[in-house]
Amino acid sequence: MPAFPPNLECKVMKKDTLITTAGRDPESNHGIVNPPVYHASTITAPSLAEFRELRTRRWDLDVFTYGRQGTPTHQSLEVATAALLGGDRAVCMGSGLAAINAAMLAFLEAGDHVLMVDTVYGPARNFCNNFLGRFGVSTTFYDPEIGADIKALIQDNTKIVYTESPGSLTFELQDIRAIADEAHKRNCVVIIDDTWSSGVFFQPFEFGVDVSVIAATKYIVGHSDAMMGIITTTDEHWQRVRQSASALGANSGPDDVYLALRGMRTIGVRMRQHHENGLKLAKWLEKRPEVDRVLHPGLSTHPGHEIWKRDFSGACGLFGVVLNPVSEGAIAAMIDGLELYGMGSSWGGFESLILLTNPAATRTVAKEKWQNDGPTLRIHAGLEHSDDLIADLEKGFERLNTTR
Ligand SMILES: Cc1ncc(COP(=O)(O)O)c(C=O)c1O
Repeated sequence: MPAFPPNLECKVMKKDTLITTAGRDPESNHGIVNPPVYHASTITAPSLAEFRELRTRRWDLDVFTYGRQGTPTHQSLEVATAALLGGDRAVCMGSGLAAINAAMLAFLEAGDHVLMVDTVYGPARNFCNNFLGRFGVSTTFYDPEIGADIKALIQDNTKIVYTESPGSLTFELQDIRAIADEAHKRNCVVIIDDTWSSGVFFQPFEFGVDVSVIAATKYIVGHSDAMMGIITTTDEHWQRVRQSASALGANSGPDDVYLALRGMRTIGVRMRQHHENGLKLAKWLEKRPEVDRVLHPGLSTHPGHEIWKRDFSGACGLFGVVLNPVSEGAIAAMIDGLELYGMGSSWGGFESLILLTNPAATRTVAKEKWQNDGPTLRIHAGLEHSDDLIADLEKGFERLNTTR
């Protein structure tokens, strides 16, 4: 059986090299470049003694006991992701949301308290309010720009400080190091949703994060054809995270894992192009008279720009645009006629997308801040040529202006 040992050189390799090498071991696989796709439910042991022994080591590398606990194909992606993020161990889940839920449940019990960023991905907010709440776990939402002042919100029963940077829909940057320092003084676990950078532009563990969750559905899969989540953590938190992932049973199928592995090998070049296209569109949009402001961390006008420059090495293709007030009809005329932008709730694939969002509907701390704005769009800059993407938006603004 091919082994996929963690590459001990990882910590010194450049990202592009890690992306193409980590988690692969052609020498143990007949020289074949990519790992095989193992389809498995039953995995047999040669003897009673070994059956028992393997079960005591079921979360160790190279130990496989049952399809739901993963196969060498899963391990390949897990090793590659942990190396990319600078964490110790990772586990694949069936979706990004399953990864979020498993990561949180790893550390919670009735009576605990969660500090959750107000700009969190909507379904994670829902998980806190409508699910954890029923099991006696309370949640306080906090301002993403709170920094070290998070300390005033930490209670004796706070177990998790959950972050997402930049935030969903409005792209506020968080000072992760300052937050993690305060959280650790009170023994809280720091979780980050790192989907926006997907391990390429941000090193969560260098900033004090304990557990990273990524919706691999987005950039790691990268081609809009599979669902996947990955939790990465340090050795210190591994057992709890792995047990939680196992208890929930929301594992991923080997074919989807293979698609994620295949996407992983090109994520570096794709992200550079998403970065370039996204910034070009953002800069062009910033100059349009129809636009009130562009919510892109790479723009010097963005409130979190200095943190982004300090902590990140790039931007993905996802950003927001607040338009000046216009009628619903005008916005529909603009969006409906676009040829290169699909309207869909996901992002991170090769294709461009546009979505009319409503940040006020999923905020409690900053509800008023987003209430009186014109329409807010979320744009995903795909890998098409930026000239064509701009030309399509330009025609969209013409339609918007004639329908006003
Ligand atoms: C920031 C963020 N995290 C997590 C998720 C959830 O990922 P999935 O759709 O794979 O469950 C999404 C999905 O849109 C997301 O935008």
